[in-house]
Amino acid sequence: MSQQSVPFYDVNRTYEDNYEQGPFGLFAEALKEAESAPTADGKVPAHVGRHSEAFLGVPVDLAFGIPAGPLLNSRFTTAAFRMGFDLATYKTVRSRAWGCNPFPNVLAVHPKSVDGSLTPGSAELDEGVLADTNYEAPISISNSFGVPSQDPDVWQPDMRAAIEAAGPGQLLVPSFQGSRVEGMSEDDYIADHATTARLVKETGAKVMVMNTSCPNEGHNRLLCHNPQLVGRITEAVKREIGDIPLMVKLAYISDDASLELMIRSTVGRGTVQGFSTINTISARLVDANGDQALPGAGRDRSGVCGNAIRGAGLEMVSRLAALRDKLGLDFAINGVGGVVTPADYHAYKNAGADSVMSATGAMWNADLAREIKG
Ligand SMILES: Cc1cc2nc3c(=O)[nH]c(=O)nc-3n(C[C@H](O)[C@H](O)[C@H](O)COP(=O)(O)O)c2cc1C
Repeated sequence: MSQQSVPFYDVNRTYEDNYEQGPFGLFAEALKEAESAPTADGKVPAHVGRHSEAFLGVPVDLAFGIPAGPLLNSRFTTAAFRMGFDLATYKTVRSRAWGCNPFPNVLAVHPKSVDGSLTPGSAELDEGVLADTNYEAPISISNSFGVPSQDPDVWQPDMRAAIEAAGPGQLLVPSFQGSRVEGMSEDDYIADHATTARLVKETGAKVMVMNTSCPNEGHNRLLCHNPQLVGRITEAVKREIGDIPLMVKLAYISDDASLELMIRSTVGRGTVQGFSTINTISARLVDANGDQALPGAGRDRSGVCGNAIRGAGLEMVSRLAALRDKLGLDFAINGVGGVVTPADYHAYKNAGADSVMSATGAMWNADLAREIKG
């Protein structure tokens, strides 16, 4: 069992405080060192050059890192690089400023099963999962942010700085998504994705990940549950970004027919070069009295991540790898979900992942990349 450290994203502070004052713990120390040694030599992290892998065709030391979420800005991504995470994803940005859900945004989650896992489709997800502030290993949490974003005038220069802070064998991975606002037509929604991709491209991005695990037309229906629409969006995005490799972030998709249609609608048309999966699994969260755990309307359900969802993530990666063989199509698979120990990283590699990322596990163990590198 890996050691828990002070999370670099402090769940006891607001998103805004984290954005202004973070990162914390070992990441804060790493950032201090980075700021005092900003030369090319100072950029070289421990263990560099021991591996030689690639992410969407870009060479990296070890294709392991942190997915979209807890790395809020260039201070977080720079600290992640210094801690040996060779892939650092800049939290999902939008074409416009977008507010964050009210505090709290994170709670600890305690599924009933002995191993702490949650299975997609199980009754527990609707009946209620205990959520509180008792954070314990193996760590599972829920996050409820609503994908906040700064205005492009703020995130574009900061993303540029984040890209430049990568050391040798490291890669900054920008994440973006479209924004659905009232009165928008489907064409407007598609165009918003393309606009956001162009704004990301302007920062000098070498690759990008598009989040499709966001709500689309109604409760529990996500954009990635509409493969045809994702196909149309990625065509529009491709026209903006040209040869820059594009990865699509998917939530858990339960049936192979939909997954195959997703692959055919994107990779099959030459618009997408990889999939990153999974995002969180939606569950009803309750406190010890059985009441709604997160305050406010529309927050009875929230996404669970960490240890609880590893089984679901591994299953999605295995099925994607099997479909890749069956269809004879070439695309990268980025395995995400419940990686809290080096053994979990290896399980994803064995399931067919070309690269692996950890959000919750890395938040509570800043040394995770170093432990994997050995
Ligand atoms: C604090 C936090 C914020 C997140 N925000 C985003 C986001 O903005 N965009 C996104 O695509 N995924 C987001 N995620 C989901 C993660 O990228 C990942 O898919 C999920 O947490 C499962 O990985 P894990 O079990 O290692 O945490 C977030 C996760 C966490 C923990």
